[in-house]
Amino acid sequence: LFAAPVDFVKGVVAMSGMPPGDRLEVCFAGRSNVGKSSLINALTNRKNLARASNTPGRTQEINFFATTGGPYLVDLPGYGFAEAPLPIVKKWQELLKAYLSGRVNLRRAFVLIDARHGVKKVDEEILTLLDRSAVTFQVVLTKIDKIGRVDRDRVVEQVKTALSKHPAAHPEIVLTSSEKGEGIEILRTIIATLE
Ligand code: GTP
Ligand code: MG
Repeated sequence: LFAAPVDFVKGVVAMSGMPPGDRLEVCFAGRSNVGKSSLINALTNRKNLARASNTPGRTQEINFFATTGGPYLVDLPGYGFAEAPLPIVKKWQELLKAYLSGRVNLRRAFVLIDARHGVKKVDEEILTLLDRSAVTFQVVLTKIDKIGRVDRDRVVEQVKTALSKHPAAHPEIVLTSSEKGEGIEILRTIIATLE
């Protein structure tokens, strides 16, 4: 799935612009700066695939990438950036809601959580939205190269406690480092074996 090049398809700002849902799809959600673009680049072995489409000022776009014979990889805009103007935040929330509840081919949402910070209040809001939309989600801890063994155990426990309140949560937590490559092959396998 990831051996052949993964290509950018399009960035969309409204449900009407979505590519046809003719294949499965997984999305990557998470706070701004959590490492979404870096993770997609690591998964696809491309240095700048995700970032290349991230034109400044168009951060409310949903970016679609196509694997060969597999699901779309969908990069959602980062949430929790306090400096964005309220109308922009509102518009993005509406689009996210519409996307998560209306995209029938969406098979799984990967919710990225910075391993140093754990699940925050803004993350909880997304998890609740995913519950309501009945979209199975799986937590991916990012930047684990930045913490030691003890802190890893601690954050995994914190995430597990948070997940116990969410019916749509997949119980397996994936620990990753886009920098060091840890967990990337595991995540590829998870994506490749979705049905
Ligand atoms: P937005 O597009 O603003 O929502 O951010 P993003 O979630 O796409 O984050 P991005 O991939 O741009 O990464 C943010 C910063 O974190 C960059 O400086 C990355 O180099 C760094 N980063 C991402 N993943 C890792 C990682 O696994 N380890 C380390 N050490 N740094 C990382
Ligand atoms: Mg990004």
